[in-house]
Amino acid sequence: MKAFGDIWRSNLFQKWLMAVSGLLLVLFLLGHLSGNLLVFLGREQINEYAHGLRTMGHGMIIWVVRLGLLSFFVLHVTSAITLARRNRAARPAKYHRVESRASTLASRTMLYSGLLLLSYVLYHLAHFTWGAVHSEYYAQACPPSAGCVDCIPDVYSMIVSSFQQPLISITYLLSMIMVGLHLNHAIASAVQTLGVTNRRIVPVMRILGPGLSIIIALGFSSVPLAIILGFVKI
Ligand code: HEM
Repeated sequence: MKAFGDIWRSNLFQKWLMAVSGLLLVLFLLGHLSGNLLVFLGREQINEYAHGLRTMGHGMIIWVVRLGLLSFFVLHVTSAITLARRNRAARPAKYHRVESRASTLASRTMLYSGLLLLSYVLYHLAHFTWGAVHSEYYAQACPPSAGCVDCIPDVYSMIVSSFQQPLISITYLLSMIMVGLHLNHAIASAVQTLGVTNRRIVPVMRILGPGLSIIIALGFSSVPLAIILGFVKI
């Protein structure tokens, strides 16, 4: 038991946890993005998809996925905070300037961009999943009169009417820049942590990391952009 505790607390294992949970969250983002892009195909397509997600396996699958996501988030955030604290405690003051120059802005601000991202995710859940903020759009799409407890909302109306408000769209667009910046450094760093040193794979990852972060940031941004520009309407 003590041996397991020692391994769990080691820097190497914490780094590994951060990398694996981070890559699994990237997989979720790719799946979530492909679902969101259905908004361009129309109301029926995205609503059917949302309905399918909620009812798959008698409504059990979504809870399994949510539990998995929550665990990955918790592991990712706690390991990131633990490692940042240890790094700070171990860093001798005289090396500070040298290290700062050698590292990039993205790498030095990972903890802060990550914490901003966490606050975005909480805001986003409060918006689309709990209907606790901008609740008028959630209520429109999911009327309490329908008597539903975990109701299946008209996701299309909820997304489009929300993003027709410039302030909501701008908040999402700024957050997507943050997502892109965080992932740009994170993907390359995770692959390095997992010890991928193959001479053929390393150059591919150097392109795939920034490429994926651009696809994810631009893909998610395309939804509020298209709505605010009037290409997608109620
Ligand atoms: C324009 C961008 C986005 C749109 C339009 C969007 C849309 C949605 C919608 C409609 C839901 C609710 C689905 C449902 O309950 O039926 C949802 C859930 C969620 N979104 Fe997003 N999303 C966007 C970006 C993101 C990003 C960038 C992240 C993560 C960094 C994210 C993380 C989540 C999570 C964790 C859930 C909860 C999944 C669940 O518990 O069912 N989303 N999103």
